[in-house]
Amino acid sequence: MSGRTAALIPAAGRGERLGPGAPKALRDIGGIPMLVHAVKAISSCPAVSIVIVAAPSDNVDEVTALLGQQEFPSDVHVVAGGDTRVESVARALINLPDDIDVVLVHDAARPLVPEEVVASVVSAVRAGHDAVVPALPMTDTVKRVDTNDDVTATLDRSTLRAIQTPQGFRREILQRAHAIADDEGITDDAGMVEALGITVHVVPGHEEALKVTRPFDVVVAEAILAKRRSLGALG
Ligand code: C5P
Repeated sequence: MSGRTAALIPAAGRGERLGPGAPKALRDIGGIPMLVHAVKAISSCPAVSIVIVAAPSDNVDEVTALLGQQEFPSDVHVVAGGDTRVESVARALINLPDDIDVVLVHDAARPLVPEEVVASVVSAVRAGHDAVVPALPMTDTVKRVDTNDDVTATLDRSTLRAIQTPQGFRREILQRAHAIADDEGITDDAGMVEALGITVHVVPGHEEALKVTRPFDVVVAEAILAKRRSLGALG
């Protein structure tokens, strides 16, 4: 594989579980919009040449202006996202330059992913895996419940993983998955690739790649940032 790597950042979600306010990606973590953190985190990985952000369709100009004010290590482009995450990723995917052969998809809602996670996903795809996801072991016991909230099964935790982003793919595989995608129940791109019968490989994720979904997650993300800033100030 001799092409370049692109990262697509779906950022068009409303973020309703975070409470009323601006679209989630535009809300601040430590005084800086979540999306700016996410683009910085992904573009800081030297393996990533280009970043394409799928912005909320009503905020494309605002997002373009916001990102245009920052200096990022790689090229950053903004497109209008869609009504679902799958659609937002698809809209970014059709804007890829021809020489891209590895594509990362990273949720704007994971603003603090460490660079080493991004690098290890890219390396694993370039080493020959068709699809790669970062993952953490489960710490909670996980049970399946029915519609009455009665437990129907306790799952074997040792075989379960919590999946993060960026997820990495050979471009051709991700495009094939999106060509036949059905939005129903899809929460990540790797799930669409699995549906093609293609093996998805797991690499270690990181606690700091947490997904900001609820107000409590903002508190945790701000604590991580404060820790990084104090370490930076000391270093
Ligand atoms: O809603 P959820 O937190 O699962 O969204 C995951 C990511 O997908 C977020 O970064 C969100 O902005 C993005 N998304 C999107 N377009 C949508 C819905 C979600 O880009 N229509």
